[in-house]
Amino acid sequence: MASEIRLDNRVAIVTGAGAGLGRSHALLMAARGAKVVVNDLGGRVDGTGASRAAADAVVAEIKAAGGEALPNYDTVATPEGAQSILKTALDGYGTVDIVVNNAGIVLYKRLLEHTPEDLANNLAVHLGGSYYLSMAAFPIMKAKRYGRFVFTSSSGGMRGSADGVAYGAAKAGVVGLANVIALAGAAYGVYSNVILPNAYTRMTEHAVEDRNREKLSAGFISPLVLYLCSEQCNLNHEMFAVGGGTVARTILALAPGWRAGSRAEFTAEAIHGHLDEIMDMTNYSNPRTSEEETRLVVGRRRK
Ligand code: NAI
Repeated sequence: MASEIRLDNRVAIVTGAGAGLGRSHALLMAARGAKVVVNDLGGRVDGTGASRAAADAVVAEIKAAGGEALPNYDTVATPEGAQSILKTALDGYGTVDIVVNNAGIVLYKRLLEHTPEDLANNLAVHLGGSYYLSMAAFPIMKAKRYGRFVFTSSSGGMRGSADGVAYGAAKAGVVGLANVIALAGAAYGVYSNVILPNAYTRMTEHAVEDRNREKLSAGFISPLVLYLCSEQCNLNHEMFAVGGGTVARTILALAPGWRAGSRAEFTAEAIHGHLDEIMDMTNYSNPRTSEEETRLVVGRRRK
């Protein structure tokens, strides 16, 4: 049996930790020795409202179990909110080692019922929230050459979910952000990975049947987050689908594709004619950077 994975002397910020997955991550991380900033705005699932009760309750739970935690009630959705969350960690614990970007909202609307404001709110919480806090914490981690980021995206963004247009757009953006942080941090021991969770929380309660609730417990997500936040984990720039007891790497695969011999050959008709080659995923690659993809796609020289 591997030795216990612990976060002793590590300072962790978990956003949206007053409920659902964030609460579960915070409890587990505190139980493994981390000092945890429990951030939560304490609003409703659609992002409206605010209350200190959610963060306070989780801090009380952590302390009752003998752990260390501080509450923070600011929104992640503004640069000022993110600075204040970071300040809670710095004033209370002197540093930050781990950021779990988890806070999220969702709107259950039909596709065409979405308003520009809905898009703005989703972008502000999911993408803005992850961006502001990560950009604020990054220099601290870079300077001490250690850090762990976990970003929470969704299959609703990476693969799409009918109607969830603002949510999906924002969640896909989170992956782009996480990829850049991963590249920027790699040389400094600052690692960034993405989870695509599947769990029963208030956010998904309408969609999960009673008989599946136990199977989709948040307890089937948080051990992955703990691992990704640990010193033992040297993974960077990865993405994992997780839920119901399964954890699986997922990638953005690039097929070898078809290459025209000349510009004259590169016609719509030729593309139609080579569709089998274009679509064939045999011998796919997983380019790690934009430059690597460009090299693979346009850099191949014909003999
Ligand atoms: P939840 O609604 O139980 O928890 C989200 C928490 O984020 C709440 O406590 C809420 O108050 C907090 N929050 C919302 N806006 C905030 C803001 N502006 N500032 C600070 N805190 C804020 O939902 P759940 O399921 O625990 O979601 C956690 C994350 O996982 C979200 O990012 C969600 O989009 C994502 N996710 C969840 C899935 C699931 O199956 N439950 C599937 C895919 C992604």
